[in-house]
Amino acid sequence: MNNKKEFVEKLLKEMTLEEKIGQMVQYGKLNDEIKDKIRQGKVGSLLNVQGAKTVNELQKIAVNETRLGIPLLIGDDVIHGYRTTFPIPLAESCSWDLDLIQKSASIAAKEAKSCGVNWIFAPMVDIARDPRWGRIAEGAGEDHYLGAEIAKARVKGFQTLENEYPLTASCPKHYVGYGAVIGGRDYNNVDMSENYLKTYYLPPFIAAYEVGALTTMCSFNDLFAVPLSVNKKVLRGILREELNFNGLVVSDWESVEESIYHRVSKDRKEAALKGLLASCDIDMHSGVYDDNLKQVVEEHPELIELIDEAVYRILSVKYDLGLFENPYVDEELHKQVILHPEHRKHALEVAKRSIVLLENKNGILPLKDTNQTIALIGPYANDQENHLGCWSCKGAKEDVISIYQALATNLKKTKILVESACDINGQNLDLDKAIETAKHCDIIILALGEPRYYSGENNNRMNLNLPGFQEKLVEEIVKLNKPVIALIASGRPLTIGNISEKVDALVWTWHLGIEAGNAIYEVLFGLTNPSGKLTVTFPKHIGQIPLYYNHKSTGRPNFPRYIDGDDKPLYPFGYGLSYSHFYYSNLKLKKEVISKEEVLEFTIDVTNNGPYAGEEIVQVYFQDHFASVTLPVKQLCAFTKVYLEPLETKTVHFTISPNQFGLYNENNEFVIEPGTFTLYVGSNSVKVISHDFSIKE
Ligand code: GLC
Repeated sequence: MNNKKEFVEKLLKEMTLEEKIGQMVQYGKLNDEIKDKIRQGKVGSLLNVQGAKTVNELQKIAVNETRLGIPLLIGDDVIHGYRTTFPIPLAESCSWDLDLIQKSASIAAKEAKSCGVNWIFAPMVDIARDPRWGRIAEGAGEDHYLGAEIAKARVKGFQTLENEYPLTASCPKHYVGYGAVIGGRDYNNVDMSENYLKTYYLPPFIAAYEVGALTTMCSFNDLFAVPLSVNKKVLRGILREELNFNGLVVSDWESVEESIYHRVSKDRKEAALKGLLASCDIDMHSGVYDDNLKQVVEEHPELIELIDEAVYRILSVKYDLGLFENPYVDEELHKQVILHPEHRKHALEVAKRSIVLLENKNGILPLKDTNQTIALIGPYANDQENHLGCWSCKGAKEDVISIYQALATNLKKTKILVESACDINGQNLDLDKAIETAKHCDIIILALGEPRYYSGENNNRMNLNLPGFQEKLVEEIVKLNKPVIALIASGRPLTIGNISEKVDALVWTWHLGIEAGNAIYEVLFGLTNPSGKLTVTFPKHIGQIPLYYNHKSTGRPNFPRYIDGDDKPLYPFGYGLSYSHFYYSNLKLKKEVISKEEVLEFTIDVTNNGPYAGEEIVQVYFQDHFASVTLPVKQLCAFTKVYLEPLETKTVHFTISPNQFGLYNENNEFVIEPGTFTLYVGSNSVKVISHDFSIKE
């Protein structure tokens, strides 16, 4: 096969206008009408198509029954696993383990590809600071540096090479600023400066494109007062011209047409025109391109150039995926791939590292398997389905190991009493049953949390407490004066200060996927020393939102923030306990003054003061003391994970590119400004040791 450019240009030359427009059309349903459109060369991609057999049938129509035989892109929302369901992305981000995260994406791509999917609408890389927003569950939290590193890992995973071609095309989404919807209300307006956009929200997208993401998806929201799907400044201007992204852009579901409801397109024809002008290459499901682009080009013949550009990008992705070589899938393959034991094993490895230990008073954890009775009480005690979380693709509840199943299977001496006490919404509370169960035990484990559908698309909340009467349940249980361990499952941070002060231990289990029960068992009984660290700030009160660690300086940093409270979090970014105590010392810089072209090199000693072996996520932050623009008070710029035996010390080396210390100036240009800085190294964004350095002219 000759090279891509020659191949695609040759094919493009042979295409009619109708066939070109057909490549820009995507539908999210399958029926005879859509099959006929495929046959007429009027559809270039599909989503929500199930199974290798069906996909092969559709590819045969596209390849054998159309004039030019151009294969289809088949997309799906494989957000945290295809059938083998991993922790929700926000949970997995708390592992800070880029290798494990990349492997999750690679396994997901392998399972998806075996079922005919060749395009994954992920990773979601939206920076999110508002836990009221349901989609905070889908991303990697509030920090743009960590978000960028995780975006790279997920893109590389989804685009794992197999037989020289990427398994699937990734699709970093939702370009851009979607996580800043006003009020945490999904689909709402977004309003921010270009400086904010480039400082906080663009970096994960830039990182994803740098590692070769083949596609990207634009978001529902407006930015600079124009909906992204028809936004020339942000799509054609920033994405194409400034960032040189040459991959294809797909709209979000019907978002080109929705420019009408944003009231910036007066009808579907204008929506199609504006989408084309903005360089939104594929219209997902609304049909505005299908119905109007031909007329648009007939009225504006010069726009055929933009059609050719868009179709070139689409055909290039199909070429990069090897679809022109072979668009078909081995219809037996999925039987060996789906839910492979190695996939389940990985699900456990990543789930146990996604758990965050928030409280462990008097070292009540880890528990021992001895002659004791444990009362496992709460809606998550034996629940399976809700550990799947939102956007669980083909995940099935029967694949999930519940907490009760894991404890009952693995504990030999401990007796387990189990009682749900209320439903997953916290309703129908049967306090008598709960108390009766709890009375006859030595230790109480409360398994609480949000149902899976409390987070995810447009599942936004006005308050962040535990649903229903779960807090009442906690209140009554702690009156028994027995040791109480609270496990909380959620798709977001919750305001649980009133609980964290009452219980002896607090373990955040998010929605951990199919190995939830086993991961929780391993952490509770010390087979795994918890290492997860929060990637999103836990506010004390909903009134503090948005609350994030890397906020910018103000002119009155020490003024009281509220007459009825403060702006301190319940748990800060980067926070998470271990069963061991890690001690940081000997922060040594190779050079305390560097030029703008030099890396900053330093070492830090990390000691595990015991008593257990464990993994520690060493975090590196910095502050630029003065600059031409306001800057975050602190910024993450590096991290690594070290494994230490009890009493072991390791000297950890860091080399940081000077670009990490750059900023966007008042002209929104990226620059490195000389000056003095402070380096912070530690176990979270607050508990750090520091050392000053400077960057000279
Ligand atoms: C949805 C989501 C997007 C998803 C797409 C296709 O509305 O916003 O993340 O990929 O539509 O399902």
